[in-house]
Amino acid sequence: MTETRKAKMMAKDVHVFYDTNHAVKGISLDLHQDEVTALIGPSGCGKSTFLRCLNRMNDTVASCRVEGEITLDGENIYAPSIDVVQLRARVGMVFQKPNPFPKSIYDNVAYGPRIHGLAQSRTDLDEIVSTALEKAGLWNEVKDRLESPGTALSGGQQQRLCIARAIAVNPEVILMDEPCSALDPIATAKVEALIDELKGRYAIAIVTHSMQQAARVSQKTAFFHMGDLVEIGDTTEIFTSPKQERTRDYITGRFG
Ligand SMILES: Nc1ncnc2c1ncn2[C@@H]1O[C@H](COP(=O)(O)OP(=O)(O)O)[C@@H](O)[C@H]1O
Ligand SMILES: [Mg+2]
Repeated sequence: MTETRKAKMMAKDVHVFYDTNHAVKGISLDLHQDEVTALIGPSGCGKSTFLRCLNRMNDTVASCRVEGEITLDGENIYAPSIDVVQLRARVGMVFQKPNPFPKSIYDNVAYGPRIHGLAQSRTDLDEIVSTALEKAGLWNEVKDRLESPGTALSGGQQQRLCIARAIAVNPEVILMDEPCSALDPIATAKVEALIDELKGRYAIAIVTHSMQQAARVSQKTAFFHMGDLVEIGDTTEIFTSPKQERTRDYITGRFG
């Protein structure tokens, strides 16, 4: 396969250990702007671990050791010169369980821009907040109650608030770890529609347990199994004519 476009993020031969548990075994995978990459595979195969390497969330786990190379626009994100707070603004993350801060809707979205000094004035900040909420498809639902607590929103709204919070600091990459698994089907559909809209502006990686969801939202699918990346390719090909037997067994439901 020849890849002519330049990747936004590149992972090369990434290994992750938790003490002696070899959780990720030499994974190489690129993320591109304008593209959603789905990470699928049975529970415990290393999807979350790999995803967390991409913005160094694993730094917070004492037993965790990461080897290999991961670059963002060609720059090694594990280099000593990298400011991890800055990195996590450029590579945002959305978690399985919506985790709004115990603050107002406004302050949830304004949090990152305030930390990073992105607004010169209150008017600037208002603009950043409203734009992020619009991009997250939440503005119309919350514009009259920006001072209400973020935690008072429904689960689906909370997840879109968390997406707005990530977007507010102008990320280049968005990582999502099973972002819909705590949501009902209607809220899931809204988040999926949102992911589709966002893909034009960001490189997106999404871990999902749902093969239907992977098929709906992604252009590339990577199948993980026991710490290996068994196969990566165009989503339609992975689901219709996978090259590896382990992939075929998984997508046809023979194990999971
Ligand atoms: N914080 C952690 N500390 C120790 N081991 C972990 C931690 N997170 C994950 N693991 C281990 O790493 C392996 C991969 O887990 P994980 O990345 O969570 O898989 P997945 O997201 O595919 O379900 C598992 O063996 C799991 O027990
Ligand atoms: Mg996981």
